[in-house]
Amino acid sequence: MNIIKRKFDTLVIGAGGAGLRAALQLSQADAKVAVVSKVFPTRSHTVAAQGGMNAALGNVTPDNWHWHMYDTVKGSDYLGDQDAIEYMCRAAPKTVIELEHFGVPFSRLNNGSIYQRPFGGQSQDFGGDQAARTCAAADRTGHAMLHSLYQQNIRAKTHFFDEFFAVDLLKNEKGDVLGAIAYDIETSEKIIIEAKTTLIATGGAGQLFRTNTNASINTGDGMAMALRAGIPLQDMEFFQFHPTGIAGKGMLITEGVRGEGGYLVNCEGERFMERYAPHAKDLASRDVVSRAIAIEIRDGRGCGPNKDYVMLKLDHLGSEVIMKRLPGIRDTSMTFLGIDPIEEPIPVFPTAHYTMGGIPTNRFGEVVVPIGTGVEEAIPGLYSAGECACASVHGANRLGGNSLLDIVVFGRAAGNHIIEFLKSHPNHQVLPEESINSALARLNRWENSPEQVNSPEQVNSPEYVDSPEQTNSPETSKNDSGETFTVPQLKAELQLVMETKCGVFRTEDVLAEGVIAVQLIKEKLNSTYITDHSSVFNTARVEALELENLIEIGLATVISALARKESRGAHSRVDYEKRDDESWMKHSLYFMEGNRLSYKPVRTKALTVDTFPPKERIY
Ligand code: FUM
Repeated sequence: MNIIKRKFDTLVIGAGGAGLRAALQLSQADAKVAVVSKVFPTRSHTVAAQGGMNAALGNVTPDNWHWHMYDTVKGSDYLGDQDAIEYMCRAAPKTVIELEHFGVPFSRLNNGSIYQRPFGGQSQDFGGDQAARTCAAADRTGHAMLHSLYQQNIRAKTHFFDEFFAVDLLKNEKGDVLGAIAYDIETSEKIIIEAKTTLIATGGAGQLFRTNTNASINTGDGMAMALRAGIPLQDMEFFQFHPTGIAGKGMLITEGVRGEGGYLVNCEGERFMERYAPHAKDLASRDVVSRAIAIEIRDGRGCGPNKDYVMLKLDHLGSEVIMKRLPGIRDTSMTFLGIDPIEEPIPVFPTAHYTMGGIPTNRFGEVVVPIGTGVEEAIPGLYSAGECACASVHGANRLGGNSLLDIVVFGRAAGNHIIEFLKSHPNHQVLPEESINSALARLNRWENSPEQVNSPEQVNSPEYVDSPEQTNSPETSKNDSGETFTVPQLKAELQLVMETKCGVFRTEDVLAEGVIAVQLIKEKLNSTYITDHSSVFNTARVEALELENLIEIGLATVISALARKESRGAHSRVDYEKRDDESWMKHSLYFMEGNRLSYKPVRTKALTVDTFPPKERIY
């Protein structure tokens, strides 16, 4: 088979904050690192993170990591693993200082120290006064971090495969992961990247929902690759809805607006969060605020002609604060709504934002799988970090500002663990042909017409002839019964199903309808092919591969949600309103084969401090 092969110590799939932080740790230790990214690295979704990164620096209010840990455990609705949460919160201050030394241009206080703003769910002294823990570079913190990390990687000589789509993991018969096959989106060339260790850092799957804050690249590729490799996904029923997306459009309006003193009002001009969270008000945790907005609208107190959004008011902050601390959201609001928030409030509605579940890992970033009842082990050489991973520090509800923290803390931890692993595993393993063939078959399906896909001799063919007169036709697909669908149509159908059947509030019947609807979309896609190869760009093929991934993540999400018969964090079951610690304080594990679920205990024991036992969550 005439496919280029390259060998590296580590393959990092994904060039967001987690992938770049891990790659940097490795390249600085002289490991040979390849980063595969389907977009140019600085377009990865980390670039869109606005409000900041949590760390108990105590620059603005008194603070310490133990209070941060308490808030994170409480925010997670007690589903987060307390060993990993302790590790993350303890590591946060030195991680921020390290980023500062990498060149991240954090905003400053008058005394020169890093600016920190209040964010939701933050408290002093285990539930006391509001803390200000979120380190910010205005409202473009992710942008600042991603660019600094990329520049540091260039300096450290990390090797980048830009605009390459990772198709599937390559494995041997023992189940060890030995790299991946990637597809050059520009040239159609396939490349086998053999690696002694592989880190999956491909981000979340916000594109599952019609209205979301996510980049169009967030299609759950790494999570789906893991599923196809037989690895389960953990806690997929917990999907975060950010309270303040632009109504009807979804773009993120940072929680930093409320951190700076903005607040939500209903059509009566009432500051309604005072009723739902008398102490924290607009800075209650996200699940609480999103539900409150949904209830206000349901009960007829929404704003606008259709009463289907609420208003985020910040004009009282004054133009100086808005232009200094929130210039990006002013820009976004003026660009997408024609509204200048210095003058007028912004219409907002909860919008899909963050995948709390993902590939199960321990706090070293190793991917862990069950090997018997209550026993799990790490897959040697396979790691995951960032939004696609589930460490699990966010449990049932992530606190704002903990995701930028998660990516750098666990990206770094995974890098360090890989460095040690490579010392005892200096050689590449033999890569079986079958593994290559099955990854190629996935690609082949979208590169050839149906007859060729079904003929076995084509499966191994690496050849692809590019047509000079390609155009992007919307009519690219046809199923076995002659019905035509396009990949974009099926994606829109999936997004609508997920939004209407698996949204902020959930019930048994509606979730069950959602499972059937997603399975139907999967069937439609399975019998859909590109019929006219002269009329599509490779980007259309990539969109088809992405949709295959999204559908698997959609199934994982809705099946896990249907099974969990309680309300916890972001998973709000109208038919099971209460949290049920006795039956449900456990992590779900969804396996693609047979759409099967199993469960494992929450790691409630912290590393050095006492466990925070579950109690009622009041803000
Ligand atoms: O609101 C925000 O700026 C988002 C932050 C986060 O999701 O952590």
